[in-house]
Amino acid sequence: MSAVARPSLVTLGDVHVVHKARSGGFFQRDKVYALTGADLSVAPGETVGVVGESGCGKSTLARVLVGLQKPTAGSVTVDGEDLWRMAAGRRRTAIGRHVGMVFQDPSTALNRRLPVRQILRDPLDVHRIGTVRERDERVRELLDLVGLPASVADVLPGQVSGGQRQRIAIARALALRPRLLVADEPTSALDVSVRAQILNLLLDLRTQLGLAMVFVSHDIQTVRRMSDRVVTMYLGRIVETAPAADVPAGARHPYTRALFSATPGLLSPIDPIPLAGPVPSATRPPTGCPFRTRCWKASDECAAELPPVTEAGPGHLFRCHHPVPNDATDRELISQAQERS
Ligand SMILES: Nc1ncnc2c1ncn2[C@@H]1O[C@H](COP(=O)(O)OP(=O)(O)OP(=O)(O)O)[C@@H](O)[C@H]1O
Ligand SMILES: [Mg+2]
Repeated sequence: MSAVARPSLVTLGDVHVVHKARSGGFFQRDKVYALTGADLSVAPGETVGVVGESGCGKSTLARVLVGLQKPTAGSVTVDGEDLWRMAAGRRRTAIGRHVGMVFQDPSTALNRRLPVRQILRDPLDVHRIGTVRERDERVRELLDLVGLPASVADVLPGQVSGGQRQRIAIARALALRPRLLVADEPTSALDVSVRAQILNLLLDLRTQLGLAMVFVSHDIQTVRRMSDRVVTMYLGRIVETAPAADVPAGARHPYTRALFSATPGLLSPIDPIPLAGPVPSATRPPTGCPFRTRCWKASDECAAELPPVTEAGPGHLFRCHHPVPNDATDRELISQAQERS
């Protein structure tokens, strides 16, 4: 590895996404803080895994990365240029060239009325890539790339299995040869029996095409195994980014440790670090550290001030006033948490 920093494919700078809630009064609807102050860079060829409980903002982060969600504030830089300062046409071109996205449910992500050939040709038509003949050739190539027979081109998405539909969705995401693929729960809507096949396909494609990947999943052990870096989110905030090899034992944020302790590892049984109370509402996030209402280490300082970003080592950042010591075992953390409650 050279000492020169690699230029990033996509960089988020202090990105905020605030939605209007469906709750609240007619005149004053509540605000939902879906993503708050997110800083993240994805380098060519690297895989970044995103973990965190339901509603913490993983899909919002994914949608911001691929330009589907415009931030309320902050910047999205693609190949050195601010995406949301570009004219709409240039933005579409930049997004098409650089990023592809695979969603959770391929049944709703694909137009049910179009034959697969048309679904795969669509991005090429929209971006006017190649001649008609070359587009047809590319469709065959894409089907081959995702392990589907050429005959699939003539069927409708509803006529193939869920796993095959997800292969079609992956092929479409790759149509414009993006350098980054963002996959949001790509296997969770599929039968358990085909999940591993789709995961393996993504891993093969990553190697074969040299893709960078952002991978979102509730299956955090799988995320850890297939990623170079693991991003932990809590209530709209990135609270830790760590080399996957250091997770979970070397994680410094109490929430990362708690999250991983609640899922079975290969060798360890489930032995969760107990947390206090429920996840606060995203319409009223706590002051200071978002995790402090559930954290066994929380002090007055945590309520008063958002912890600054601390660097634990190369590629390892966290936000916590009372980080977990490097060598702490789950056992020790469990008894600390039990004492507090
Ligand atoms: N269009 C919207 N309008 C209002 N609130 C929204 C909207 N989209 C997302 N939210 C809210 O923003 C927060 C973050 O949602 P997001 O879908 O990013 O979470 P997630 O981590 O992907 O959850 P899950 O694991 O369940 O997929 C949640 O509180 C969610 O209810
Ligand atoms: Mg989601």
